[in-house]
Amino acid sequence: MPQNAKLQSRHLLGLQHVPAEDIQLILHWAGHFKEVINRPIKRVPSLRDLTVANLFFENSTRTRLSFELAEKRLSADVVNFSASTSSVKKGETLNDTVSNILAMKVDLVVIRHSEAGVAHFLADRVPAHIVNAGDGTHEHPTQALLDAFTMQERIGSLEGKKVVIVGDILHSRVALSNIFGLQKLGVHVAVSGPSTLIPRAISELGVEVIDHLDDALEWADVANVLRVQHERMDRAFFPSIREYHKRYGITMERLNRLKQVPLILHPGPINRGVELTSEVADSPYAAILNQVENGVAVRMAVLYLLASQSAPQNVV
Ligand code: CP
Repeated sequence: MPQNAKLQSRHLLGLQHVPAEDIQLILHWAGHFKEVINRPIKRVPSLRDLTVANLFFENSTRTRLSFELAEKRLSADVVNFSASTSSVKKGETLNDTVSNILAMKVDLVVIRHSEAGVAHFLADRVPAHIVNAGDGTHEHPTQALLDAFTMQERIGSLEGKKVVIVGDILHSRVALSNIFGLQKLGVHVAVSGPSTLIPRAISELGVEVIDHLDDALEWADVANVLRVQHERMDRAFFPSIREYHKRYGITMERLNRLKQVPLILHPGPINRGVELTSEVADSPYAAILNQVENGVAVRMAVLYLLASQSAPQNVV
């Protein structure tokens, strides 16, 4: 991978239109930054004198902390905005909030919002580099990149591998970004979940639907298990949590029946006892905390590569 290779876009808004070579470039740099964050001195000066604003209009634990840590490890100046403690509560519009933050000379903006398309809206209006940290049910590109990085770390090259995404596909931005990203890396992607939570047009994306979870787990090298997103459900999509767990919950009993157990991923937060039992979540089959660790390295790679488009950033 050439050291001076650059991303083709100034923003990371989603993976749908990101070429495979840019995904490979991010994963390559993530490997480098993973090595950096495991050194005794974990900080590099790559983003020194640059300012990053983390704008979180929707709740987050992992993504927000992970971006903040990534920015600090790269020596950026960091400002954090949370809608719940801001003037949004006094009626300020998104446009005004962002204009005010940018007037403070911010170079990169990381944004999470409950509405799909907000990251694109900003990218069309502001001079900073924009990173989508999750927009509604649309995309969550850095989650999919850290998922791919973790899979690659655990099972090797993803070319020709099989990944099943399990559960609430309908409301999931993680599912869509995984589908776009993994297919570009040569992965066969399938989904498995209640038919009410599988979008009707999923096959148009080249994604197979496997109705029975046991068949899906037998087929897959990796199962990326999604959270049931109650907060996005305006009606009942399945009879009960108990019924959901019975049909689509990953249990040790279920895994023990397989010829080979797939690697288990979950983007978090987990509803323990619903999508996964604690026994599975905390077992060596699961890579959930590896995903969290890798999230910092992947986000360092994204921020570094975006920032290096504006100015040479050779110090890593
Ligand atoms: N995976 C993920 O996006 O988690 P958070 O909502 O806690 O950021």
